[in-house]
Amino acid sequence: MHLSLDDLMARPAAFRRDLMNTLPGPRGVHLIGTRGHRGTENLAVFSSVVHVGASPPLLGFILRPLTVPRHTYHHLKATGWFTLNTLHPHILDPAHQTSANYPIGESEFAATGLTPTYSDRCKAPYVEESAVRIGLTFEEEYPVRANGTLFIIGRVQEIIVPDRVVAETGHVDHLALETLTVGGLDTYYRATDPIRKDYARAKPKS
Ligand SMILES: Cc1cc2nc3c(=O)[nH]c(=O)nc-3n(C[C@H](O)[C@H](O)[C@H](O)COP(=O)(O)O)c2cc1C
Repeated sequence: MHLSLDDLMARPAAFRRDLMNTLPGPRGVHLIGTRGHRGTENLAVFSSVVHVGASPPLLGFILRPLTVPRHTYHHLKATGWFTLNTLHPHILDPAHQTSANYPIGESEFAATGLTPTYSDRCKAPYVEESAVRIGLTFEEEYPVRANGTLFIIGRVQEIIVPDRVVAETGHVDHLALETLTVGGLDTYYRATDPIRKDYARAKPKS
């Protein structure tokens, strides 16, 4: 297949959505936990979390346009806190279900059976069933003019991860944790067979 921009735009919207979502390949997938001022807890699955930088530690994600109420955005702006929680095979069904559109007063934790848990510090709920839990404060947001999405950046305030999976070097062993990745909006992948390479340096010309 060789598609030009015009070819792509002539395709049905659903085809374009699924092609564009799966085209870059499998990527990280997280549950974002938030809590509103009135105490309502919210949880939703997101596949756009990216590393922004390590010093200071920053992670970001893309949020769909605010054309309808976005509970995650509403809460994280209200309290300044959100959490990122990894997906694993044993919680895939409830995790995926959090993408359904629940009313703002209804907690996705209660609706799906996932368990909210809190640390002393973080004002947003973590997912007890997730092996890697990251607590962040809202840092910056950038509107993407081309399509009305927002790039949200958070500052990592807290990391909760089993000791046994963090190597001396700082590498996290996601194979041992069975952390899932996702292609598009519906196809989840298990990681297998990681291939670790040395830091690449330019080779001197001979
Ligand atoms: C696998 C998957 C990945 C998703 N990734 C994103 C994403 O990166 N950004 C986004 O805004 N919505 C994403 N969604 C849609 C949200 O999960 C969905 O809109 C959810 O209802 C948002 O909940 P909220 O309104 O409570 O914040 C994704 C859905 C699925 C199934």
